[in-house]
Amino acid sequence: MTESNTPAAAGKSVKRSAWSSKWAFILAGAASAVGLGNLWRFPYLAARYGGGMFLLTYFVLAFTVGISLLLLETALGRRTRQSVIGSFSYYNKKYRFIGVLATLVPFIITPYYCIIGGWVTRYLAAYVVGSPSAMADGGAFFTSFITSPVGSLAFMVIFMAIVFIVVGLGVQKGIEKSNLIMMPLLIAFTIGIAIFCMVQPGAWEGVKYYLVPDFSKFSPQLVIGALGQMFYSLSLAMGIMVTYGSYLDKKENLTAGVSYIAGFDLLVSFFAGIMIVPAAFMAMGSADAVAAGSGPSLMFITLPQVFVDMGAAAKVIGVLFFVLVLFAALTSAISLMEACVSIVQDGLHFSRRKAMTIVIIIVLALGFFVDGGYSFFSFIQPMGEGSSLLDLFDFVSNSVLMPIVALLTCIFVGWVIKPKELIDEVRSSSKFKLASVWSVMIKFICPVLLVIILIAFVGSSLGAFSI
Ligand code: TRP
Repeated sequence: MTESNTPAAAGKSVKRSAWSSKWAFILAGAASAVGLGNLWRFPYLAARYGGGMFLLTYFVLAFTVGISLLLLETALGRRTRQSVIGSFSYYNKKYRFIGVLATLVPFIITPYYCIIGGWVTRYLAAYVVGSPSAMADGGAFFTSFITSPVGSLAFMVIFMAIVFIVVGLGVQKGIEKSNLIMMPLLIAFTIGIAIFCMVQPGAWEGVKYYLVPDFSKFSPQLVIGALGQMFYSLSLAMGIMVTYGSYLDKKENLTAGVSYIAGFDLLVSFFAGIMIVPAAFMAMGSADAVAAGSGPSLMFITLPQVFVDMGAAAKVIGVLFFVLVLFAALTSAISLMEACVSIVQDGLHFSRRKAMTIVIIIVLALGFFVDGGYSFFSFIQPMGEGSSLLDLFDFVSNSVLMPIVALLTCIFVGWVIKPKELIDEVRSSSKFKLASVWSVMIKFICPVLLVIILIAFVGSSLGAFSI
């Protein structure tokens, strides 16, 4: 990315960043999309919701709803040449609130994302210096680590420090460079480890479960789970893709760009499933057992057991696997942090340095607070017995704010500024044969699906029904 002076909507000249090439945009979009969501969340959802059937549903949704919304966000950013708050108020000041809501999301996600990043860093360190069996003790290692205030905070701070340094180096020297190193390694490791896991004795049963759809497993819960995951994984409805679109040159092909980003994201999720679902299946014997061990414990408790069962390879696989997860978590955390910095910079007209200082203070403070949810503040159980502050942050950002922002965005584009405004933008740089399908998607299909997931998430958390 380079800095350039572009006249802003208001007429005054502001400093705007720009991608150095189409590939820098695709790499940054993929770096933000591919993260803990793909490696930690996707596999356990796939195991829980019937393997192949979930995979199929997820792919269909990602290629229809996912790509449509990705295109909407990047086209809106490029059309208005504004980051998220500006791109809504560009049309009318009264729509500014949609952008403001979207910007809340990265501030809520970044602190808890860095906490999980700290767990990953701890596991990597343990595999490098210790014996793989230390982590495979049925959860004692994991529980004692996350509830120890000093240990878990220390690793959160180490993870955050790496993120702060990269973002501090700037967009070109820090973010673009680190993506260029981490992303190709990430893709190579994912495919390599997945193939290794697939050829383990006994893995075949699990691979079949993961790949062959069983249509009797189809359920509304499965669709809702897949939709929620798709939003999170593609980093939609948080303003980040609007901002990235606004840095993109007017002549670059938008439809190809967003297809690559979604393609990378799907590829990594697919292989993450191949490496984790059959392995967990072998360790636990049945899909139900895998599903029961879902959530953080699948990666931090079940997998270490699977690695130990691999015998001599355990240490190497453990190290490679957690390097891979660390890279995925870092590239996403870096773009989350960058999103926060650019919001403060644009919104308050601060220098980048000043904006970074403020964001670091907020992220550290919230990080300490949420991490303390497992130790000092464990008496706060905001979502019922046994829940943590991390669960609350995850719920507010993913299950409440995200569908609301996405819904408002669809209504805004579909019914206020009208799809044609963005279709023209897409057509200024490439063909767009499916424009009329896209309009129907944005005006009708996406809003209906979004209302359904919003009701489902909120209703289930209030105990009205279970998903
Ligand atoms: N997509 C990321 C993942 O799969 C998580 C994420 C959600 C994110 N929103 C984001 C990353 C915004 C960067 C920016 O883990």
